[in-house]
Amino acid sequence: MVIAPSLLAADFGRLEHEARRADRSGAEWLHLDIMDGHFVPNISFGPDVVRVVRPHFSRELDVHLMCSRPEILLEAFAKAGADRITVHIELGEQVTPLLWKIRSLGKKVGLAINPPTHIAAVKPYLPQIDLLLIMTVNPGFGGQPFIEECVPKIQQGAVWRKELGLDYRIEVDGGVTLDTVTECARAGADTFVAGTALFRHRNLGAAVRKMRLLAARAARELI
Ligand code: DX5
Ligand code: ZN
Repeated sequence: MVIAPSLLAADFGRLEHEARRADRSGAEWLHLDIMDGHFVPNISFGPDVVRVVRPHFSRELDVHLMCSRPEILLEAFAKAGADRITVHIELGEQVTPLLWKIRSLGKKVGLAINPPTHIAAVKPYLPQIDLLLIMTVNPGFGGQPFIEECVPKIQQGAVWRKELGLDYRIEVDGGVTLDTVTECARAGADTFVAGTALFRHRNLGAAVRKMRLLAARAARELI
């Protein structure tokens, strides 16, 4: 199981401190939400923030690009220290060249899908990706309620992974809390992004351990 606190919910006035807090928490990844104010109605941060947090988080930086033109940013994020870079299926024709470019930069390749988009849209790309990110909120903001209707998409991603003999990770992102993590794991998710439920928790380490325990327990029910 991978737990990935989302920096979007952290204290932006103390990014180094927050990155170190996430590192001490034992979280496997740190999730970095990049928003361009066009693909989503919000603007967050860019490669310079990735560069700032890089030395203070010892494991993987999971960069989620909610951007209309990610091609102009890929090299900058790779240079800044991203380990994996995720783009959205909603970008249509751009997706194939984007996945190739991320791979050519030596980074892990992620593909994200928004709640209104039909899961069939990602199927042709599954052999090319390391990570399938199922959005369980409409992207743009932290602290939104979990959208239950997205759970079947997690299940479908898990079915295809098995049927096609692939090994991409299935990440859920948005409204993932200690109350919703169990159903996500039961549906087949193995990677959990959480902003509010983790960074806003007084004891981030305890929250990460609890979320991982709940996810692992639920996943055992799957087997
Ligand atoms: C939303 C982002 C999510 C968000 C998660 O557009 O992609 O990663 O930060 O925040 P919570 O866990 O608070 O929903
Ligand atoms: Zn995200």
